[in-house]
Amino acid sequence: MKVLSSVITLATLAQAGLRFPCSTLTVQRLDPAGEPGQSPSSHVHHIVGGNAFNATMNGDVGARATCTTCQMSEDFSNYWTAHLYFKHPTNGSYHRVNPLPVQPLLGGSNGAQGGLTVYYTQFDLSRDNIKQQPIKSFPPGFRMTVGSPTASARHIGLNYQCLTGNNRGALLADFPTKPCSGGIFTAHHFPPCWDGKNLDSPDHQSHMYNTVNTDYFNNAPPCPASHPVRVPQVTFETTWDTTKFNSMWPSGAPNPFVWSFEGNGYGTHADYMFGWKGDALQRAMDKSECFYDGCGSIQKQSMSIANQCQVKDMIGEQTDGWLSKLPGMAM
Ligand SMILES: *[C@@H]1O[C@H](CO)[C@@H](O)[C@H](O)[C@H]1NC(C)=O
Ligand SMILES: *[C@@H]1O[C@H](CO)[C@@H](O)[C@H](O)[C@H]1NC(C)=O
Repeated sequence: MKVLSSVITLATLAQAGLRFPCSTLTVQRLDPAGEPGQSPSSHVHHIVGGNAFNATMNGDVGARATCTTCQMSEDFSNYWTAHLYFKHPTNGSYHRVNPLPVQPLLGGSNGAQGGLTVYYTQFDLSRDNIKQQPIKSFPPGFRMTVGSPTASARHIGLNYQCLTGNNRGALLADFPTKPCSGGIFTAHHFPPCWDGKNLDSPDHQSHMYNTVNTDYFNNAPPCPASHPVRVPQVTFETTWDTTKFNSMWPSGAPNPFVWSFEGNGYGTHADYMFGWKGDALQRAMDKSECFYDGCGSIQKQSMSIANQCQVKDMIGEQTDGWLSKLPGMAM
């Protein structure tokens, strides 16, 4: 309740930051940031954003794409995570757990279909920092990942919450241990400091540096000399509709949800491919004109238009329904 009321108060202020829904673009085994050129990639992803999405993505994505599933119509970036699956506790079959539009505390999902909600923040959830600390947009061709499928410990900024009604519940580093009547909410916060030179790095992470040492939306402490350029703090939030599987989760049994790489909760990770058109993201970061759903010169589209944007299924395999194994996994 405390969080909700402070957000309502602050929403009336002009702030620099963006929050908007993006509908699901496609679900398939492609990963142009983590495994560029690999078709299929190792595991199934849930992908939103522009229609330039492909196994290999180089150059100016914002100039190439012609539509986006995101509400901000100049944003042709792609945002993706592993897909969530349910593993039947007794017979071992898998079923895809589809996302529901995220209902942010204010603003709703505006008619999004599935998808996730994206944030670009300057400081924290409610304040900007234009005077003290300029924020530089990402350059064309930029990409990054956060987290790792093989992680075995908590990672700052990568969390779960067990949704019940309007209550999001405590931040968890691993999957909830009991059924969640409103679904499982996941958040992925990316690092805020860039080396200023490299669009990517061999591990897709070392050109970035994280100085945020607490969970949730917090201002990043200063960037180090090795990664001196402060970029927008990118976050995605996804609500996974686990509710129809709850009755198949026997009381007291361990968590039956798995990521598409058959990994545990600590393996949660996310991928970002920058694709804003021209200087639109820089303009959004330079002025106190954008926050939540109000956004001066940054163009928006109706989600009924955004929902029509599509890409081809380039892999052509079944990812939904009951499956005897996860696509791409040995068993
Ligand atoms: C994806 O890449 C393939 C191979 O380079 C190409 O033929 C195809 O046109 C690309 N699709 C899009 C939507 O860019
Ligand atoms: C596992 O259980 C589900 C739900 O009852 C069922 O639809 C699926 O076919 C079962 N899988 C196998 C291999 O029996």
